[in-house]
Amino acid sequence: MFTVGFVQFRPVRRDVAANVAAVERLLAGVRADLLVLPELANSGYLYAAPADLAPYAEPGDGSGPFLAALRRLAGQTGGVIVAGFAERGGEGLYNSAAAVDAGGVLQVYRKTHLFADEKLLFLPGDTGFRTFEHRGAAIGMMVCFDWHFPEAARTLALAGSQIIAHPSNLVMPYCQTAMVTRSLENRVFSITCNRYGTEELDGNPLTFTGASQILDTLGRRLAQAPVEGDYVATAKIDPALADNKRINARNDLFADRRPELYA
Ligand code: ACM
Repeated sequence: MFTVGFVQFRPVRRDVAANVAAVERLLAGVRADLLVLPELANSGYLYAAPADLAPYAEPGDGSGPFLAALRRLAGQTGGVIVAGFAERGGEGLYNSAAAVDAGGVLQVYRKTHLFADEKLLFLPGDTGFRTFEHRGAAIGMMVCFDWHFPEAARTLALAGSQIIAHPSNLVMPYCQTAMVTRSLENRVFSITCNRYGTEELDGNPLTFTGASQILDTLGRRLAQAPVEGDYVATAKIDPALADNKRINARNDLFADRRPELYA
């Protein structure tokens, strides 16, 4: 069995050390093969311009303070941690997710579908959707608004992902329900780790919807957080169940696709 989980919390803007401390406190005594943190867990969400956010962003190679802290924490939890973070790349900032274990950064995913004013802060992601292995499980990453594009989860599933790690800062109320379908239509486990709380920029508040969740390959909730509040949950899963795409004796989710008619 493989233990997965999420760490729902409320990242604070402009205070990477406070966010590391919050995650560290919530992870005390937690052991899991895969833990997912929210989107932009190092920086918080609302910034006026890239230059405003840049001091809190860091490279994806693990040399900055946030990913270095995750590496240390992954040593304690005994697995891999997937977290959203503001990434400083060569040409600009990316809204990224990193998979980190005790040895360092395993993979970085740059958010493909930027939401609303994120387009003013970040470059569109250029990594595409890939799978990495951890203790025999195939894991893929997507970030928040990617949920609204079924191609994201489908591409990960077709690439072999058994588990989708989905750091989020959700503001619309639909994703937690929509991900039931993303899991069901791809027969994959999914872990949506959302943040909670309200941020404000120029008098405009933005409230995040919490309710982080772990879904199985039939879209059943194995765990769910409340809308507000710090919350850690774990569940034991068998990732290999995601390899069975068979619905009945005559239907297989992937073998029955008709891509020649989808163009
Ligand atoms: C979002 O993609 N953070 C809504």
